[in-house]
Amino acid sequence: MERDSKRRSERTSARKVVRLRSTTKSIVLGITGSIAAYKSAELASLLVKQGHQVFVVMTQDAIEFVSPLTLRTLSKNPVTTSFFDEKESWRPGHIELADRANLLLIAPATAHIMAELAHGLANHPLAAIALATRASILLAPAMNGKMWSHPATMENVEKLKSRGVEFIGPEEGMLACGYEGLGRLWKVEDIAFRAEFLLARQENLIA
Ligand SMILES: Cc1cc2nc3c(=O)[nH]c(=O)nc-3n(C[C@H](O)[C@H](O)[C@H](O)COP(=O)(O)O)c2cc1C
Repeated sequence: MERDSKRRSERTSARKVVRLRSTTKSIVLGITGSIAAYKSAELASLLVKQGHQVFVVMTQDAIEFVSPLTLRTLSKNPVTTSFFDEKESWRPGHIELADRANLLLIAPATAHIMAELAHGLANHPLAAIALATRASILLAPAMNGKMWSHPATMENVEKLKSRGVEFIGPEEGMLACGYEGLGRLWKVEDIAFRAEFLLARQENLIA
């Protein structure tokens, strides 16, 4: 019994830092205005530990939940929060990020960003990057269960899936809004693992 639980815990910690491939990749980590946004700090840290360059892009609502300073420190890169803090070069920073990305991962993804992506809106850097990039896109939704199961959200999810966007979660459990149900952000270790899997798949390391 004790040995089983030791083995389980070894398996879990082994998955925390995953290396399926050898080269460093660029991951644009989008963070949106969900109560789960604080978990994206740990996710950023895991992706960096997995050996990647992580570029965080936050919506204006996301910065109400978690500080760009935290994400800048953990990702070791500047954080984009507006089209107008892009002053580094003559090229619009969001286009540079879109071109540079090997993976666009949005975690947590709100109902709102999914609606924007489904409709091709682009009035903030994260939505614009999603339109401009040709990298794989992985969304980890988090929201109230009724928001998730609403036909509008379900239609958006289906539309995005039909364009090749991948999803991880949400999972079932106790939600911050007081309800229990489907809507919790998937475990960050598993999100990092899926990101790694998608990057490795691009390199044909995994069938
Ligand atoms: C405390 C609080 C928690 C919220 N949590 C969520 C959430 O988990 N998922 C979601 O879709 N919206 C949530 N919202 C609503 C979003 O913040 C709102 O829809 C916002 O417009 C999302 O903007 P963004 O997608 O541009 O970040 C929450 C709002 C508040 C005030």
